[in-house]
Amino acid sequence: MSVRIVVRNIVKKAVSPKMYGGLKHFFSYEKKIFRDIASAMNSDNLNRLATIHGTDKWNLHWYTQHYQKHFQELKNKKTNLLEIGVGGDADTKKGGNSVRMWKAFFPNANIYALDLHDKSIHNERRIKIFQGDQSDVKFLKEVAKEIGEIDIIIDDGSHINEHVLITFKTLFPLLKKGGIYVIEDTQTSYWADYGGDVSNFNAPNTMLTFFKSLTDSLNAKDFRIPGYQPSYYDLNIFSMHFYRNLVIIYKSKEGDRQ
Ligand SMILES: C[S@@+](CC[C@H](N)C(=O)[O-])C[C@H]1O[C@@H](n2cnc3c(N)ncnc32)[C@H](O)[C@@H]1O
Repeated sequence: MSVRIVVRNIVKKAVSPKMYGGLKHFFSYEKKIFRDIASAMNSDNLNRLATIHGTDKWNLHWYTQHYQKHFQELKNKKTNLLEIGVGGDADTKKGGNSVRMWKAFFPNANIYALDLHDKSIHNERRIKIFQGDQSDVKFLKEVAKEIGEIDIIIDDGSHINEHVLITFKTLFPLLKKGGIYVIEDTQTSYWADYGGDVSNFNAPNTMLTFFKSLTDSLNAKDFRIPGYQPSYYDLNIFSMHFYRNLVIIYKSKEGDRQ
């Protein structure tokens, strides 16, 4: 048992339930104020923001170092960011760590997120949460329509290969031209319980087989196949970046030289 829990139990026994409720409220409010101050003082540094807001995008996964580089240009722009997965699974009070980190890093952005479970407790100014399944194409299209132009999409949801691919195939075409699409935790491509396969690195239906195949789209103009009809991805992917457990895809925009 941690010291915090021991102290909490002693206080709980020593004071009335009403006073205990008041103390709990006071300390959680105080914690929030300190978090907000620390967040404001470190608003340029995503690794520190991830630590302050308690998301595992740093300290467990090492993603925010890459986001710092890829998202820097958008930092102060008026953008719309959509994250799949709010966190906390079925516990409706938990999660929200990454949406609050994004809100702190992007001062002019609207932060949207969706989750299978009710996470509406995290709605606040510049943060809007939708409830639904990322493998439900109709739901994804409704969300995208309500948001309008989406500049950044981050998939940190179920990590089930089939879901990731449905979500990408639905939302990438709806991403703004020049937008950035991110898939986190691509290691589930090797994990059987997520629909992955470690026995064959080119197994059909895994996300990494699919995303690796898209690297060919970058070179589609040079295929030298008579009569070749370019695919949507051939025409709309500007660049792809592979990191450990992370894929970042840039959508082409007008004026890109390719
Ligand atoms: C890894 S957590 C997200 C963590 C959060 N993005 C963060 O960095 O703090 C994954 C979330 O995805 C949600 N989820 C699982 N399956 C889903 C699905 N099919 N559709 C939408 N959300 C799902 C879970 O409820 C859980 O809250």
